[in-house]
Amino acid sequence: MTCVALIGGTGLNSIDGIEALGTSLQTPYGLASAPLGTRRWAGHDVLFLARHGRPHQIAPHRINYRANLWLLQQQGADCVIATNAVGGITSHCAPGAIVLPDQLIDYSWGREHSYADEQQLRHVEFGVPYHAGLRATLMAAAEQLSMGLVTSGTYGCTQGPRLETAAEIDRMERDGCDLVGMTGMPEAGLARELDLPYVALCLVVNEAAGRGTGPIDEGEIGRVSRAGMGAIVKLLDGFFELLE
Ligand code: HPA
Repeated sequence: MTCVALIGGTGLNSIDGIEALGTSLQTPYGLASAPLGTRRWAGHDVLFLARHGRPHQIAPHRINYRANLWLLQQQGADCVIATNAVGGITSHCAPGAIVLPDQLIDYSWGREHSYADEQQLRHVEFGVPYHAGLRATLMAAAEQLSMGLVTSGTYGCTQGPRLETAAEIDRMERDGCDLVGMTGMPEAGLARELDLPYVALCLVVNEAAGRGTGPIDEGEIGRVSRAGMGAIVKLLDGFFELLE
C-alpha cells in the first residue's frame, strides 16, 4: 500500500469522499495552505491538500510550498501527484488537453525554494524532474481508459499572478516550453529535496497569451477547468487501480 499525496490546483480544490484529517497546519516553515484531507482510493491512502487554500485565495507566489510538502511527508506521504491548470503554448497542448510534462524551466523568483538553510546542504540531482514510475502508471491508466493524454512536454513556471505578455510566451516557446503555469516550482524541486517522488498532471485551460484570437478569458478558464478536472479524477481512478 502506498500513501499518495494529491496536491489540488486551480479547479481541483476538493475531491469526493475526502474527510478532514484534523491535523494542524503549523510546520517549522510556517502554515500550510489548507487543512489536509484523507480518503481511501482503491486500497491506497490518499492525502489531499488544496494548494491555493480553501477557499481558493492564495496567489501562486504566496503559497508556502515548503510547509505544504513538509506537512504531506510528515503525515506519511510516499509520493506526490500535483495537479496544475496551465496555459497551452504549443499546438499539441490545446485547451482541454491533459498533459504529463517531462521537463520544466523555472522563471519564478523570490520564492522560498529550498530546505537548504535548515538542513544539510545538498545539491540534489534534478536532471529529470518528474518521477518515471509515477508517469508510467498514469500513462498506463490513460491507455486502459482510452483517454487522450499528452505524455511529454516542458512546463515553464512563471511568477504570476498576472498572465504573461505575448512576447514572454514567444520567448518561452523559443526556450522549448509547451505549457505555462505559475505553481510548478518550487514545488517539484522541494519534493526532490525531500526525496518524494513527484509528478505533475496538467490540464490546459487556455491558450497562452498571444496564441488565441483575443484576450485570455477568465470565465472560459473556469469552464474548461471544471470540465477537465472530471477527466483528471477519472484518470486518478485508473491510476489508483493500477498502483501497487
Ligand atoms: N499562464 C500562466 N499560468 C496559467 C495560465 C497561463 O496562461 N493558465 C492557467 N495557469
